[in-house]
Amino acid sequence: MFHLQKAIHVTPAPEAEPDDPQVLRWLAEQYSTGSPATSVAGSTSASTSRSQDDDVPYIRFNMVASVDGAVTHNGRSGDLGGPGDRAIFQVLRAHADIVVVGARTATTEGYGTPTVSPVFAEDRDRAGRAPAPALALLSRSLDIPDDFAPLDDPGTAILTCRSAPAERRDALAAVGARIVDCGDDSVEPDAVRDWCAAQGHRDVLGEGGPTLLGSFIVADLVDELCLTTSPHLVAGDAGRIAHDPGPAPLRSLRPSVLITDDHDFLYQRWTRRP
Ligand SMILES: NC(=O)c1ccc[n+]([C@@H]2O[C@H](COP(=O)([O-])OP(=O)(O)OC[C@H]3O[C@@H](n4cnc5c(N)ncnc54)[C@H](OP(=O)(O)O)[C@@H]3O)[C@@H](O)[C@H]2O)c1
Repeated sequence: MFHLQKAIHVTPAPEAEPDDPQVLRWLAEQYSTGSPATSVAGSTSASTSRSQDDDVPYIRFNMVASVDGAVTHNGRSGDLGGPGDRAIFQVLRAHADIVVVGARTATTEGYGTPTVSPVFAEDRDRAGRAPAPALALLSRSLDIPDDFAPLDDPGTAILTCRSAPAERRDALAAVGARIVDCGDDSVEPDAVRDWCAAQGHRDVLGEGGPTLLGSFIVADLVDELCLTTSPHLVAGDAGRIAHDPGPAPLRSLRPSVLITDDHDFLYQRWTRRP
């Protein structure tokens, strides 16, 4: 048996600019993770799978793909985004204690140190949180330029593995980078989760790319996927939002929020089935 419903939970978003405080607060409510210690704007969660044990980090990923599943256009995800997507990107960072991202994505997309809209400054302060999330760059090869801007921030960590090339480790350490081993031969998602917990990071935001998301899916550590469907067909040879050579059983999710806008984007919040 199954029960069909037309357009379940599709919510028309209020009309606004991407940095309009009203729309950011409305989105913050839709995307709250429900952690009492980390609430933004007093919002409550829209049914997440957050553990009762508040010490266990809640891990969610934010990705964008075209209607035909492409994760990039011209090698970058930026072409697929829109104003609503950028607003959600800000809101998810406002809810996060740390942004975890593959080093290749961070360098390809020209990452800086994460910032959070001033709209959420008071809420974060009241909740005893840092003004903005920290940044963790995952890399096995440590192929990260020594002058990569986020390395100047003491909140940035490079999560790598013990077999990482010693000369790259020394070069990055020499410019003051904080390097943490999370595994022997590869960066293990479980070790990343445990390190986040030990640092007191309860809301972890993964911003990709597909290799990073794939490894977390295989490790069964994805509590939530925030997926923007960009209203385009791309074809070409772009990959999917996740890949990993390791086989994984099907991981079941359910739609907890679906939002659309007048630019024809679809914003989906998929949470782990309890
Ligand atoms: N559409 C979207 O939402 C979206 C989001 C993000 C990125 N992208 C696009 O995706 C492309 C990059 O794809 P990608 O798959 O190469 O991105 P990626 O996931 O950032 O690439 C993997 C990077 O993470 C490092 N890594 C270390 N440990 C890892 C682990 N356990 N699991 C996974 N990665 C680990 C790798 O380091 P080593 O190489 O040193 O091993 C590598 O630098 C870019 O074109 C970017 O623009 C799209």
